[in-house]
Order: sequence, then C-alpha cells, then structure tokens
Amino acid sequence: RRYSRITGTGSYLPPRRLTNADLAAELAARGVETSDEWIVERTGIRARHFAAPDVTSSDLGLEAARHAIEAADCRPQDIDLIIVATSTPDMVFPSTACILQAKLGIHGCPAFDVQAVCSGFVYALTLADSMIQTGLANRALVVGAEVFSRILDFSDRTTCVLFGDGAGAVVLEASDRPGILASDLHADGKHVGILCVPGNVSGGKVIGDPLLKMDGQAVFRLAVGVLESAARAVLEKAGRTDADIDLLIPHQANLRIMQSTARKLKLPGDKLFVTVDQQGNTSAASIPLALDAAVRGGQAKPGDTLLLEGVGGGFTWGAVLLDL
Ligand code: ACO
Repeated sequence: RRYSRITGTGSYLPPRRLTNADLAAELAARGVETSDEWIVERTGIRARHFAAPDVTSSDLGLEAARHAIEAADCRPQDIDLIIVATSTPDMVFPSTACILQAKLGIHGCPAFDVQAVCSGFVYALTLADSMIQTGLANRALVVGAEVFSRILDFSDRTTCVLFGDGAGAVVLEASDRPGILASDLHADGKHVGILCVPGNVSGGKVIGDPLLKMDGQAVFRLAVGVLESAARAVLEKAGRTDADIDLLIPHQANLRIMQSTARKLKLPGDKLFVTVDQQGNTSAASIPLALDAAVRGGQAKPGDTLLLEGVGGGFTWGAVLLDL
C-alpha cells in the first residue's frame, strides 16, 4: 500500500512585528481603544507579524517552501504537486499556487489553491495525501500562506487585534510506511455569515464589504464542539486513543479554544503546541507555521504522533492524525 509522509517543514514570518502595545498605539491614533491586557486575557495573543504592503501570500509562501524543500533534502524540480491553502490570494486568478510555482522555477506539475479559510491547511494536506495514495503525485509541496492584514477592518477592535501574516509549508512524499494516518474534513455552509469577507470584485469595482466580519462568540461556541468531534473521528479511524497523541497542533486562533480542546482530549498542557501568543491567528498558515516551529524546536520528533486540527470560515473544520 502507498502512504504519504512529511519529509520536510518550513515557515516564514514577515519581519515587521507588532506587540499588543504597538498595535494599541496605532489603533489609538485612529480613535480605536484596546489594551494589551484585554487582548491577552481574551485570546492569549501578545504579538503578530504584518507583511509590508507590496508583499503577497506567494512571497511569504516562497520563503516557507524553500525552507521545507531544503529540510526534505530535495530540489524544487523534484516537486510534482503544489497546493496552496489561502484566503488572501495574490490575484483573483491565476491561483497563488501557480504564482508560487513560477517563483520556485518549477514547470508542468499540477498547482492549485484550496479555499477553506483557517481549515485550509488540513484540507490541502488531506488532498495531497489522497493524490499521493492514488499515485497521482509522489512529492507534494503543501503551503498555507496568508496576508490577513490586508482584509482587516482597523476600525473594528473585535477583529483587527486577532490576526497576523505568515506562511508555512511541508513536503509530503510517497512512502511504504504510513505517515498520514487519518483525516476528517467537514463544512456547513449555513454558518457563512458568522465569519466572512462578504465583498467581491464585479464590473471593475469592489462590490460589498471587502473586510473581515466575525461574530466572535458564535465562532467560539461552534469551534470548541467541532474540534473535539474531528479529533475523536481521526483517532477512531486510525485505531488510536487520546493517550497516543504526542503533540496537539491546532489552528492557532485563540488560546482559550485550544486549551478547551486539549482538556477534552485529556492532554496535559505540555502536549498542546502554542504559537498564537507570538503570531496571532494566521488562518491557513497557522498550522504549518506551528508544525515547523515544533519540528525545529525539537517538541515534535521523528516517530511522534501529531494531531493537527483546523476550524474556520465556511464554516469548515477538520483534523489530520499523522506519524512524523
Ligand atoms: N479591546 C478592548 N475591548 C474589546 C476588544 C478589544 N480588542 N474587542 C471587544 N472588546 C469589548 C467589546 O466591545 C465588549 O464590550 P462591552 O461589553 O462594553 O460591549 C467586551 O469587550 C466583550 O466583547 P465580547 O465580544 O463579548 O468578548 P469575548 O469574550 O467574546 O471575546 C473574542 C471576543 C476574543 C473575539 C472571542 O469571542 C473569540 O475568541 N472568539 C473566537 C474567534 C476566533 O477564534 N476566530 C477565529 C476562528 S476561525 C478563523 O481563524 C478565521
């Protein structure tokens, strides 16, 4: 049987880092009041990175991809599938994956974007795994890249303090040993309105609101329940139990949601990997950014069982259980 394994990880954060105090000072100049204390208490976020105005998702993805390809000890031309998870693409079309492909100097392999907002990376990883299992690809580059700073409404303090920019990537290769053990993906479009960027481009104009809108409490309530059920589903599919999880790497949206999931899975605090404090919510980039930090920091070691979990606009959610 053919399986897929992660053979390299990489990530990239744009250099401009804003602490809560920095952001609060910028917002105060616009007449918007917030504080480090409020942001830390409600979300666990202490800082985030924002890309320069001319830097796109494919630029961030390129840096992350280079690091992942180097870690996998292969060359860009060895990649035969590129999937980019993003909700902040460089252009309406072509896909950010095609733009990234050109920047990597790769020609001919399939390249496309996945749009599942903050669940995008678990969707993309599951797709790449399926394509490798069925023989459609041998070595995939799976990227999550976002510039959410472009779609934030800086007059809305309930959302603009939560998000950041960045990119993460993995190289996923065919293997005779299982790496990806199980996936579980879901969506329920009846919740479109609780987290969305409702605007669009039409007739050469932006129609509707092009900035992020969120009902934070509705998202919070939904997220906690669906994350537990997705975790249970992948453990059951793989014939594993809570005790087999070496590290939980959830989408980094809010420390309280992450801790609640860890508690439901009876995981001790040191098995929950957290980057949201330093990066904010980077949407589809948050899981591969955290995965790379865990691998490079030694918290995720070869042979470890990792549970990746995403939840986001759509409403979408899902989980991937894997052996590193
Ligand atoms: N600074 C100071 N005060 C604020 C801020 C802020 N940045 N934002 C809101 N407040 C105020 C509100 O105005 C409100 O004041 P009021 O009581 O005088 O009206 C008070 O704080 C409480 O506001 P709530 O919205 O009730 O605060 P809550 O405890 O629900 O926290 C939060 C809000 C952090 C957004 C929370 O609901 C949450 O984390 N939800 C989940 C969001 C999430 O995870 N989204 C991403 C998931 S999917 C994806 O990643 C795209």
